[in-house]
Amino acid sequence: MILEVAATHSITQVVDLCSGGGGPWIDWLLSAVSQPVQSVILTDKFPNIDTANKNIPTGLTYWTESVDATEVPIQLLGFRTLFTSFHHFKKDAARAILQDACENGQPIGVFEFTRRTIPALLLMLLAIVPVWIAVAQMRPVKFSRIVLTYLIPVIPFVVTFDGFVSCLRTYSPSELLTMVNGAEFAGFEWKAGITEGSAFGFPVTYLIGSPAVKQPKQTG
Ligand SMILES: C[S@@+](CC[C@H](N)C(=O)[O-])C[C@H]1O[C@@H](n2cnc3c(N)ncnc32)[C@H](O)[C@@H]1O
Repeated sequence: MILEVAATHSITQVVDLCSGGGGPWIDWLLSAVSQPVQSVILTDKFPNIDTANKNIPTGLTYWTESVDATEVPIQLLGFRTLFTSFHHFKKDAARAILQDACENGQPIGVFEFTRRTIPALLLMLLAIVPVWIAVAQMRPVKFSRIVLTYLIPVIPFVVTFDGFVSCLRTYSPSELLTMVNGAEFAGFEWKAGITEGSAFGFPVTYLIGSPAVKQPKQTG
């Protein structure tokens, strides 16, 4: 879906917002599934310097200056993407993110792996298992981490709680479309929905906005 928008608008550059520690673009560039996208700039209000200093794939840059998703510097041109982060923003800030993209004529895609549904909330209980596995693999081994994971499970509890809150805050496709219902969003075409099975088999809620493609006038 992202790649279709990129192809329609001949976009070769992506500006990922709220990138945190990286998100999916790193793997996509490494596995070359991202064509025609040739370059991806990761950005964040609080840039993750660890990721910025890592040996990252060709075509990927981590912007080391702070980038607020509601006011992206104009020199950062490209398809704006946000993964697993839009639910962090209250309605006004979320709208401001979409409006900034619209005002600057840059396509934008919001992708959420959480959902406000009972099955999604129940699934969060399983988050304990990856935490157990991840902590077992972390080096150097820290006594406090082991205790807080396996003996007094504070870390699994915090991760599960965070997952629950994320699910409860995730906008539905109709809420996303209501957000872009206004004159300030009129120059863009907006699509929202849920794709089944695209992220490790989990449904993904999305909103994609791109400049309306002008239809050639019919003659004769
Ligand atoms: C859940 S994390 C992002 C996860 C990441 N996109 C991924 O796929 O792994 C949310 C990120 O949003 C960033 N953030 C919060 N407010 C922001 C803002 N106004 N503008 C840009 N980034 C912001 C935080 O610093 C944090 O790194």
